[in-house]
Amino acid sequence: MNYPLSYKNLRLVSKSIAFKCLVLVGIALFYKALFLSSSPRNVLLTRARHTSDSSSTDGVRTDKFLEVPQIVWGLNNQKIAFARACLTARTMNRTLLMPSLSASLFYKEVDKLLPIPFDKVFQFERFNSLCSGFVRLARFSDVRNRTQVFELEKGSGRRWTVERDLEQLKQSVSRDEFEVIRVKGKNPFLWHDHWAVKDYAKVFECMVVVDEISREADKVVMKIREAGENAARGQGPVPFVAVHMRIEIDWMIHCKKLEQRQKVSEICSSKREIMERVGNISGLKTPTVLYLAVADSLLEEKEEESSVLKGWREGLIPFEKKKLGVKEEVYGKYSYLIQSAIDYEVCLRADVFVGNSFSTFSSLIVLERTQKARRLGFVSSCEDGGNVWSSYAYNLAGESEGVPRRWMTNMTHSSLQAISYGSNSVSCSSE
Ligand SMILES: *[C@@H]1O[C@H](CO)[C@@H](O)[C@H](O)[C@H]1NC(C)=O
Ligand SMILES: *[C@@H]1O[C@H](CO)[C@@H](O)[C@H](O)[C@H]1NC(C)=O
Ligand SMILES: *[C@@H]1O[C@H](CO)[C@@H](O)[C@H](O)[C@H]1NC(C)=O
Ligand SMILES: *[C@@H]1O[C@H](CO)[C@@H](O)[C@H](O)[C@H]1NC(C)=O
Repeated sequence: MNYPLSYKNLRLVSKSIAFKCLVLVGIALFYKALFLSSSPRNVLLTRARHTSDSSSTDGVRTDKFLEVPQIVWGLNNQKIAFARACLTARTMNRTLLMPSLSASLFYKEVDKLLPIPFDKVFQFERFNSLCSGFVRLARFSDVRNRTQVFELEKGSGRRWTVERDLEQLKQSVSRDEFEVIRVKGKNPFLWHDHWAVKDYAKVFECMVVVDEISREADKVVMKIREAGENAARGQGPVPFVAVHMRIEIDWMIHCKKLEQRQKVSEICSSKREIMERVGNISGLKTPTVLYLAVADSLLEEKEEESSVLKGWREGLIPFEKKKLGVKEEVYGKYSYLIQSAIDYEVCLRADVFVGNSFSTFSSLIVLERTQKARRLGFVSSCEDGGNVWSSYAYNLAGESEGVPRRWMTNMTHSSLQAISYGSNSVSCSSE
């Protein structure tokens, strides 16, 4: 493969100065320590370990199961659908049978819908230990009698209201004679929603990607940090801002339609607007490395790929997958779903994240970053100051037109609606 010159230079530079490598390893260890010590998952895990031997009293029945249809569409939709299946099982006081996710995006062509087991993407045991007492996953081999299955058909259409759906769920709790309840029909993402944002957040926290994905994300983050080091010429760590740029043609068509339907004009952001607003984030040190998470395979023109790298404010050094040298080496090895999962993890680890408030991908990242910030005691980002895990929406104006709006997930919302279908009423506080 031919890499851009800058990438070759990068490699030469880092090869030629041996001691620099040592510095990089040191920085990596530092960040690792930072992540480990602040990781909510470790705290939760420690807590879970203390209570894990009380399996019979920890809430969810282990001898009754719920089975759901294969989960489809993008990573974010699949995460929401999975969480919704878990919360449905919880309402029925049943264990969820580990569902299949989908590795590909071809949702219209069912034969191309490559199923991938949940545990190829997320850690199965870890899920159960982190979510112990709240929701539970089991394997199909845990079912004793496969003949005792009750098929639950979800209704559809205008008359199938949220209330009727909830009533059906409550009634199925009494179907105790059946070891398995199998929901027939729609992808769980399309089921009616009955749960609060906090409940979803709890399930998302238990979804830890498998080591392989996490290692690939580490590799990408290392490259980004390395690029920052090179730019700063040894003046210490450089902040890293991830920008989820939605500028591909599919999105532009979709968001223009949304704007017409919802009669708002703040959904689609042009490249120029994104660049201006990101450049105006207050308190950004220079140099700063930008990681541009772009759905590059979906861009309209090949030239777009390199043109996203041009036009940024001085001091902001943009990279996308190709310039970073991770396009083939890391992402290219994987299916669509795993590629998204790696990108998701990279954005999660950025010092600052900037996304589109109408994108579910951006919204879920902000939700997880909000959880992290809350655990460190930050419930609001409305004021200036050294915020950790801060996030912004580039499609919405902040204090003034040229500035992006500060963004935290309002954790007190009683339904996921606000974030699962996009919103322009984002807040800078989590309560
Ligand atoms: C689920 O069932 C178990 C066993 O019957 C019970 O102990 C537990 O309280 C129930 N959990 C909920 C959330 O209803
Ligand atoms: C499974 O359930 C069916 C129907 O209740 C019953 O006839 C059958 O004997 C059961 N099989 C086992 C192995 O328990
Ligand atoms: C934002 O940045 C642009 C240049 O990119 C500048 O012209 C504009 O005044 C800035 N706006 C604010 C509010 O800082
Ligand atoms: C968060 O949501 C709750 C419930 O919808 C609302 O009452 C509250 O004002 C919101 N807070 C912010 C900061 O937007």
